[in-house]
Amino acid sequence: MEETERNVKKDVTHNLVWHTMEISRKMREDHMKQKAFTIWMSGLSGAGKSTIANALEKRLYAMGKKTMLLDGDNVRMGLNSNLGFSDEDRVENIRRIAEVAKLMNDAGLIVITAFISPYRHDRENAKQIIGDEFREVYVSTSIEECEKRDVKGLYKAAREGKIAQFTGITSPYEVPEHADVVIDTAEMDVETCVNHILEQLKELLQESK
Ligand code: ADX
Repeated sequence: MEETERNVKKDVTHNLVWHTMEISRKMREDHMKQKAFTIWMSGLSGAGKSTIANALEKRLYAMGKKTMLLDGDNVRMGLNSNLGFSDEDRVENIRRIAEVAKLMNDAGLIVITAFISPYRHDRENAKQIIGDEFREVYVSTSIEECEKRDVKGLYKAAREGKIAQFTGITSPYEVPEHADVVIDTAEMDVETCVNHILEQLKELLQESK
């Protein structure tokens, strides 16, 4: 794909030419009286991503923001139901989520994503797709804590060899090195985590009219 200028793209191989829409992202944002961006949450299964994402969305909703939450388990039951947990499938999982988040941002929405997204390269790729309005939140809750919680019983099953390529046990998790926010749900309660994230998003939220 060749990008000549922002939003003007050509795919010569497939005879595709990007159509510029007359209603721009900026117009959609103004219409919604907000600045669109994506909060990308990453961390182990059971780290607390979904809980924090949900509480964060409720706070943004109460502030009058137009939002959407994309959650790992839910998206894997629909859009990504044909994907498993091989490296290749995880790459495609994250690529699709990033493209969907980007589309939703272009529609003017504030998007929160909650996926393990274990590979640094894939998170970088998501950032490339989404652009400047991308903020990374690392839910750093330790593997010991996640395994102790084992809400879904998956760590136990992984230890017993019943689930292959389980993140943190038989599949790697690459820690984000430059996350905008780091939260450990073993040390902070949900409200404190949400406050911490909102504090870091202050400027983006203030750009909203
Ligand atoms: S990701 O690695 O591709 O980003 P994603 O966030 O979509 O993962 O899905 C993670 C959820 O899938 C976990 O919370 C868990 O419920 C379930 N799951 C099933 N198998 C695995 C596995 N092998 N590794 C990690 N999570 C798994």
